[in-house]
This record gives sequence, structure tokens and C-alpha cells, in this order.
Amino acid sequence: MTSSYAFWLAGRQVSGEDSFDVTSPWDGRVVGKVSVPTDAQIEEAVAAAYAVRDDFAATPAHTRAVALDHVSRRLAERTEEIARLISAENGKPMKWARGEVGRAVSVFRFAAEEARRFNGGEAQRLDTDLGGQGRLALTRRFPKGVVLGIAPFNFPLNLCAHKIAPAIAAGVPIILKPAPATPLSGLVIGELLAETDLLAGSWSILPVPNDKMPALVQDERLPVISFTGSEKVGYAIMDSVPRKHCTLELGGNGAAVVLADYASDADLDWAATRIATFSNYQGGQSCISVQRVIADASVYDRLLPRIVAAVEAQVTGDPSDDATEVGPLVSEDAARRVETWVDEAVAAGAVLRAGGKRDGASYAPTVLTDVPADVTLACEEVFGPVLTVQKADGEAAAFAAVNDSKYGLQAGVFTHDLQTAFRAHRALEVGGVVIGDVPSYRADQMPYGGVKQSGVGREGVRFAMDDYTYERVLVLTGLTL
Ligand code: SIN
Repeated sequence: MTSSYAFWLAGRQVSGEDSFDVTSPWDGRVVGKVSVPTDAQIEEAVAAAYAVRDDFAATPAHTRAVALDHVSRRLAERTEEIARLISAENGKPMKWARGEVGRAVSVFRFAAEEARRFNGGEAQRLDTDLGGQGRLALTRRFPKGVVLGIAPFNFPLNLCAHKIAPAIAAGVPIILKPAPATPLSGLVIGELLAETDLLAGSWSILPVPNDKMPALVQDERLPVISFTGSEKVGYAIMDSVPRKHCTLELGGNGAAVVLADYASDADLDWAATRIATFSNYQGGQSCISVQRVIADASVYDRLLPRIVAAVEAQVTGDPSDDATEVGPLVSEDAARRVETWVDEAVAAGAVLRAGGKRDGASYAPTVLTDVPADVTLACEEVFGPVLTVQKADGEAAAFAAVNDSKYGLQAGVFTHDLQTAFRAHRALEVGGVVIGDVPSYRADQMPYGGVKQSGVGREGVRFAMDDYTYERVLVLTGLTL
């Protein structure tokens, strides 16, 4: 029997008039039937969030922290069941789905910790000039207003967690819209929040259809928008509300650089294994999956066959099977798009070294070399299990190749040299540089976000809390300092 999922309106479980089916990208079976909020119900959620904003901001830190700790604990207890749900609705192999639940456990735990220490205040003496004698400035952070969180399909649990947990930690009400293809895991967070004493109205999880999004985006009671998804939709949102605060976590075409000093057999084996794994995890549907390898000319000939072998060794198939490493993409349309881009690159002269085949929604782990710079695959985010490998003559050329992109999310640099690490940090136009590993490394407490067309603002629990709030100064007068 198909499970039905109601949504969460101001902390209550509610059904609308219509519903839609969520299907598995692997075998097309219906995983769940999701109720859609009516216009009146969306209005009720927004009005409730707006009404409680001052009370929620004033909720004691311990109340919010206890609720966040509770969600973290309950996610951990229900790991296996939630991982199965992620895998079923998204097609993510169980191995990665379990990892995603583990990350969400940490996100809520970090948020509980941050809730306890946030807003502690900073004191600044003002008697540095005559006019400030006897004065002290105290700075604290206050909410910018209710957040509209819009989450993507690729991490259906953890990227919802990254919007909700910091909001609660900072005392900011949130309306969360999960992705239409994968709303079920986000709705489970609602089950766990409903077990807490958080103020009714402080959170709603609404599977709003995309065509109703513009009205929510325009709503003046929601002054902060935190969006994760495509570059096209993200900038369309920002351009439609230029006076709102928008955080955009958009695409990337993550580069892994392998430099000349990373040359022992053990080094190259490690680099090739990490590159193969993280160009294919979640079918390559991560904004920081490895899309480009830029190898120093001195190691290229020894690295390429290792990468091809490691990519061909990836276990593909049924995502519910524990042994599977690469499952389907989110839909057959997504796999067809990847197929079109690879075929276009090959027709333009790229050399296919592995993969290059589609079967329904699945696309085989693929490696290409000699890819012309102007084909779509070289310019856009593939969001599929496809890797290009190119040669560079030295460090400067390799870093220039990384920067030769409209994106700038994260980059990985395989080097042992500390000076090189610092030069990479300075030279690479990205939000994060990972030394000795792939660009796909993300710890959920780190600042995460991009430059250029990869977006604006930062997530990572504490950084999202900063983003949802602003500094307000209190000047005290007539003090003995
Ligand atoms: C993303 O695709 O932007 C999220 C990557 C991650 O959280 O690991």
C-alpha cells in the first residue's frame, strides 16, 4: 500500500485538497502520495510565521537547543528507515543515503551547540576619541525576518536540515519548500520537530508546487530567501526581488588538480580513487562532485589509466542494494540531458575513455579526454556521472584552468607542499579549497558557498545563522570604563 504524506503547517500535520505521487527513479514505483497545500493553507502558514517572529526570537536558547538536540537524536535512531526513504525517492544508493542521514544528525547537533553560544554579544569601547568618552558599544544579532527556504532534490534530507536547523538555532521562523521530486525526507523532519515544544508557527514544511513559488518569493512577510538549486532559477528569484536578502547555493563544475609533487604510486592511487568515487557519488548529482581533473603533464600519463580503472570499477545498479555505489539519476530526462551533452562533446572531438551509455534513468560512469573548450559539457555543470581529464603545464597553468569557468564553488588540490596550498588558496576563485582531496569534501559546520555564478552567501550552520540575522548595536553612555 502506498503511504500518504500530509504536510506541516505551523507545526501541525495537515492535508490539502490535491496530492501528487513521488516515484522512484530506479523502477518507477510510487514511493509516496504527498498532499499539496491550498492557497489558503499557504497563507495560513506565512501569517503564522510572521505573527510569531518576535516571540520566537525571544525564546530562550535552551528551549531551541533542546528541540534541535531532540531532532538530531531521533534522526540517528531512525537512520535506516530514513535512509531507505531517501534512496527510494531520490535513487541514491543506500551507502550514500546512510551517510546523508549521518550528516543531518550532525547538522542538528551543531545547530543545538550554536544556539547555546549564539548572540553572546561583543563589547567595543568607544572612548578611543573624545566624543566617545564613557561610552561602550554592545553588538548583538537579531533576525532579519521570516526565512523562505527552498531545497533541492539531490540531498533531500540534509539540505532541508541546512535551512531549518540554523533558523531554529537563531530564533528565526522558517517556511521550507522541499523539492517536488523528493519531498518525503524533508517531511520526516516535520515529524521530529512536531515532537518538540517549539512555538507553533515557527516552522512549516510545505510541498508547494513550483508554479506557486513566485507568489511566496514576492511575499513581503518573507524578507529572507535561502535557495539551493540551479543557477537559472536562483538568479531568476534574486532578480525578481532585488531588495530581499537572498542566499543562493547554485551550481559548480568542481575541479580536482593533481600537481607534479603528487607523484608516487600511492599518491596517484589515492587521487584516482577519490576522483572516481566523487565524480560518481549520487550519480554525480552534487554541486561539488568532481567534473574536471586538471593533471600536471608530468603525472598525467600515470594518472589517467588509474582514473579510468577506478571509474570502471564503480558498482552500478539498484540503489537499495548495499553494494551499489552509483544508482540512477533523478529522472530519465536528466539522464537524457547528460547523454546529449556527452554525445555532443564526442561529436566535437572528445575521446571517450569509459562509460558513455544510458539505460533509462541510469548513466554509466564516464571519463572523457580532449574535450573542446566550447562544448556544453566543458562550460556547464553536468550534474551527472561524467568526468573530463585535461593536462596542464605546471601549477600556474593548472590554477588558471580551474579559474577558466563561470563557476566557483570548491576546488581540490592534490599536493603535499604547504606553500603550494597557500598559493592555491590565494589563486583559486572559489568558495573553498581542499588540499589533498577532491572538491567534494564538505564538513557541515564549515562555511559553504560559491563565488561567480555559483551563488552568494554561505551555509554551514553558524554561517547560515549569520545570514539570517543582522548586527544591531547598543550604545551605553556615562560609563566608567
Ligand atoms: C550541494 O550539492 O551543493 C551540496 C553538497 C553537499 O552538501 O555535500
